[in-house]
Amino acid sequence: MTFQDDTQLELTDFSVETDVFRREVVAGLRGDQKTLPSKYLYDKRGSELFDAICEAKDYYPTRTEIGIMEENAEEMAEAIGPGTVVIEYGSGSSMKTPLLLEPLEAPSSYVPVDISREHLVEAAERISERFQDLPILPVCADFTRPFDLPEAMDSNAPRTAYFPGSTIGNFTPEQAQELLKNMYDETNGGRVLLGVDLKKDVAVLERAYDDSEGVTAAFNVNLLEHINRELDADFDLGAFEHRAVFNEAHSRIEMHLVSTMRQVVTIGGETFSFDKGETIHTENSHKYSPERFAELAGPAGWDVEQIWTDDKDYFSIQLLVAKK
Ligand code: TRP
Repeated sequence: MTFQDDTQLELTDFSVETDVFRREVVAGLRGDQKTLPSKYLYDKRGSELFDAICEAKDYYPTRTEIGIMEENAEEMAEAIGPGTVVIEYGSGSSMKTPLLLEPLEAPSSYVPVDISREHLVEAAERISERFQDLPILPVCADFTRPFDLPEAMDSNAPRTAYFPGSTIGNFTPEQAQELLKNMYDETNGGRVLLGVDLKKDVAVLERAYDDSEGVTAAFNVNLLEHINRELDADFDLGAFEHRAVFNEAHSRIEMHLVSTMRQVVTIGGETFSFDKGETIHTENSHKYSPERFAELAGPAGWDVEQIWTDDKDYFSIQLLVAKK
């Protein structure tokens, strides 16, 4: 099957509705510790800022993971086997995808799944130009909930979930296990190839999530801008500051937006007050030991078949295979 350069890719669209967005934002800001769902970090601008984070010198995960892929992709492809559908969760710019697609033997199709529609479509087009014989079947969806796979996908082919970037760490261990169960269903008990960031020196971690170029800070604050635009809100972007701290008890980096003054914010007519120094918790990034991660994957139906790491053991790529 050949895709022409001018072919419109067929998009399966389950984008988040505005009223769902509003309900989730209001619920998060009504809690004792205010929170906002991190998936809304990824509007068009947010997805661009995230790509810039991946290139920031203080942010080690992307380049470390790419290094591991470059060194071991042949072996990964071998272990995955021929004819697979590749379903990528939170594909973003699909930057790492070619490193996997290239060595795979006769992949059946590529299904990128992302919440950011424009970013998804652009990435899908780029991949289809590079892999002209491969059916590319993008799905715009919030992958944190079960979603339907594209109808055009060969439903008999083996399936591999590809989940790089240590996005699994952005969920609590309970949610991560739930997601791994969904992946079990969505792959028909196939395989998962995923990036898992490892525990390390706190100073290295905190720098990675508060980089000296200020890109991560801009990314976090952009969440408020996204809410202002879509939900008719009036967050004062200059009155919130980015903070990243390692929470030892939960083994995670926490991202917050700190209110620099006492203030009231209006969202579509509802008001929310902030004390000076009060925070909105926007994201977590859990750091695992390989043992701890295997304990999480087991009850979701997965055996850890193989683990690849870098020389410093900063990051791991793990191949999960459905338990027999
Ligand atoms: N999956 C990435 C990580 O946990 C996401 C991420 C990187 C992120 N930097 C961030 C999320 C800053 C929110 C804020 O490393």
